[in-house]
Amino acid sequence: MAEFVEIFEMAPRDGLQNEKRLIPTADKIALVDCLSRAGFRRIEVTSFVSPKWVPQMADAAEVLAGIARAPSVRYAALTPNLKGYQAARAAGADEVAIFASASEGFSRANLNCSINESIERFLPIIEAARLDQVRVRGYVSVVTDCPFDGAVAPGAVARVVAALRDLGCYEVSLGDTIGQGRPETITAMLRAVLDEMPAQSLAGHYHDTAGRALDNIEASLALGLRVFDAAVGGLGGCPYAPGAAGNVATEAVDARLRALGYDTGLKAAVLAEAAALARGMRG
Ligand code: HMG
Ligand code: MG
Repeated sequence: MAEFVEIFEMAPRDGLQNEKRLIPTADKIALVDCLSRAGFRRIEVTSFVSPKWVPQMADAAEVLAGIARAPSVRYAALTPNLKGYQAARAAGADEVAIFASASEGFSRANLNCSINESIERFLPIIEAARLDQVRVRGYVSVVTDCPFDGAVAPGAVARVVAALRDLGCYEVSLGDTIGQGRPETITAMLRAVLDEMPAQSLAGHYHDTAGRALDNIEASLALGLRVFDAAVGGLGGCPYAPGAAGNVATEAVDARLRALGYDTGLKAAVLAEAAALARGMRG
């Protein structure tokens, strides 16, 4: 039997957060509902962040309230602080994600605080989630290259991964936020990170700016990673990462994984439908 590799779908959150035109809530709900039929186990639906910082995600609660939930899918939301966590829980998010940065420049741009301050700010989320028995995923951004600070040392990524592990994150997703990673730099980063966290608790989150995301996924597979974040239609970019193109397209990752002999459990025809919806939302 083919080995399973999971794709964690990101389009409704990471894909749409950067769109300048405000996407109608009903369109976001239609996208999530289509994705729910594709066979994903996890979909990141939205983020409960400051609407002053990311206006596109201001309708987070309405989106979660409007979707038709498939029992086999966990619907996730990004939460930067306790306020976001509480709102995400009230809206019925099944799990939440906290997000730190491997560089000080990106931490400042994305969260308006230092790396250490961001970890401290996550503590109340972790405490509340423990009481609520809610799973918390962690992200580390700019794992190879930062738009503000340049090349990022693998050891800097490993330190943040260790901090998120110590907080209790069940999985840490490694973000090549501006899509400048290459198999060599991704491999060097992963070797350092694997000293802190096992491959089965790590995910690759690669943007495709330089067209190397699929190669970076293959390099990560070689080191044991079996979860990858992607967005249908290659939607996305990060509002605080100038020059970042979209996430690697889910349908491309699915095709590559199948060609390599892995099972993703996804329905290609539904993915194509979702990708068309997603492309229609792009400004
Ligand atoms: P701040 O301005 O330093 O903090 O922002 P603040 O506490 O002064 O809050 C400012 C205002 O926002 C206040 O409102 C707060 O109440 C409100 P005011 O009093 O001025 O009317 N506020 C909130 N509103 C709703 N929900 C909340 C919330 N928190 C505060 N949760 C803050 C600090 C962290 C809030 C801000 O920097 C922020 O929201 N950042 C999020 C940025 C973001 O979403 N970035 C994109 C996601 S990360 C990413 O894409 C990377 C990733 O994909 C991986 C990768 O690719 O590498 C994950
Ligand atoms: Mg991203």
